[in-house]
Amino acid sequence: MAAVSAADPQSLDAKEVQRRLDELLWYHTIDVVPGAVTRGWFDLRHALPKIPFPDVRGRRCLDVGTWDGFYAYELEQRGAGEVVAVDLPDMRGIDWPPEVLADPSFDPTLSDEQPRAAGFHLVNEIRRSSVAWRGLSIYELDPATVGTFDLVLVGSLLVHLRDPIRALDAVRQVVAPGGHLLLVDYIHPSVNVLGRGRPLFELRGEGSDFQWWLASDLGLQQVLKVAGFTIDTASDHFLLRPGEHYPATTFRAHTRRDYVSRALNWRFARDATFGGHLHRAYLCRPRF
Ligand SMILES: C[S@@+](CC[C@H](N)C(=O)[O-])C[C@H]1O[C@@H](n2cnc3c(N)ncnc32)[C@H](O)[C@@H]1O
Repeated sequence: MAAVSAADPQSLDAKEVQRRLDELLWYHTIDVVPGAVTRGWFDLRHALPKIPFPDVRGRRCLDVGTWDGFYAYELEQRGAGEVVAVDLPDMRGIDWPPEVLADPSFDPTLSDEQPRAAGFHLVNEIRRSSVAWRGLSIYELDPATVGTFDLVLVGSLLVHLRDPIRALDAVRQVVAPGGHLLLVDYIHPSVNVLGRGRPLFELRGEGSDFQWWLASDLGLQQVLKVAGFTIDTASDHFLLRPGEHYPATTFRAHTRRDYVSRALNWRFARDATFGGHLHRAYLCRPRF
C-alpha cells in the first residue's frame, strides 16, 4: 500500500495557521506545519525517540483515544498506509465514577466544553491529512466493524478505564496476525517505589478528573500479560511533560507533593520537569 501524503507544508502561511490553531484549546502539542504549533496541555514531542515504534510504512494503524491526534499524525508521518483514529463520540462514554454520575449537577456530556475531536479535525484539514476519525469506545473495537490493524496504539488511556482488561481484550481482537500493540501509559512513581518488584496498583476512581488504577511498572506489565499480550520491547521511562497551556492549578503551586513527584520522576526518567507524569511504552504481540 502507498504511504499517505500530507499537505505540502511550504505552501501554507504559518501565521494564518497559528491564528486558526489558537482559536481552539488543545491537549496535545503538535507541530502542524513549520512555524505553527498547537499550544497544548501536554507535550510528548521529546518522547518520540524513546517510544519503540515498529516500522509502519504501508501498514494499517489504529490510534485509540486519539484526542487531538498526536500519535495518529505521527503514524501518518512515519508512512503508514492507512491510519484510523478513534475516540468517544460523546463524553457520556467516559468511565465516570459512579459517585460522579450520581451527582445531579454533573453533566456527563461535558456540553460546555469544546467537542473532543475539534482539534483533530482542524489539524486534519490544515495538513490535508488522510487520517480517518471514528467515534468509538475502546470497549467496542470489533474486527467486524473496524477490521484489523498491523499496529494498535493505546496512549495514556488505561489509567482512565474502569476495566482495562476488558478494553485490552477488545484491542487484541483487532490486532492483525503478526501485528503489534503499542501501549503507552502512566506509571505512578510512588506506587512503583512501594511495589518493589510486585505488580501493585492504587485504586482511585473518584472525582471528575478521575484516574482509576495507578500502576507500578510491573502492574502495567501484569495487565498486559493477563490480557493476552507478550512484551517485545519496553522503553525507558519518560515524562508526559506539561505543554504551554498546562492548567495552572497544580504544578505551578510547587507543593511538597510536586517536589516528591519531581524527585521520583528524576529517579526513574532522569527528567525533573515540574508537572511531568511518568510514562513507559511497551511494544507487544498477542499471545493468543
Ligand atoms: C489522557 S487522553 C490521552 C490522549 C492520547 N491518546 C495520548 O496518549 O496523548 C485520553 C483519551 O482517551 C479518550 N477516552 C476515554 N475513554 C475512552 C474510551 N472508553 N474509548 C476510547 N477513548 C476513550 C479520551 O476522550 C481522551 O481523548
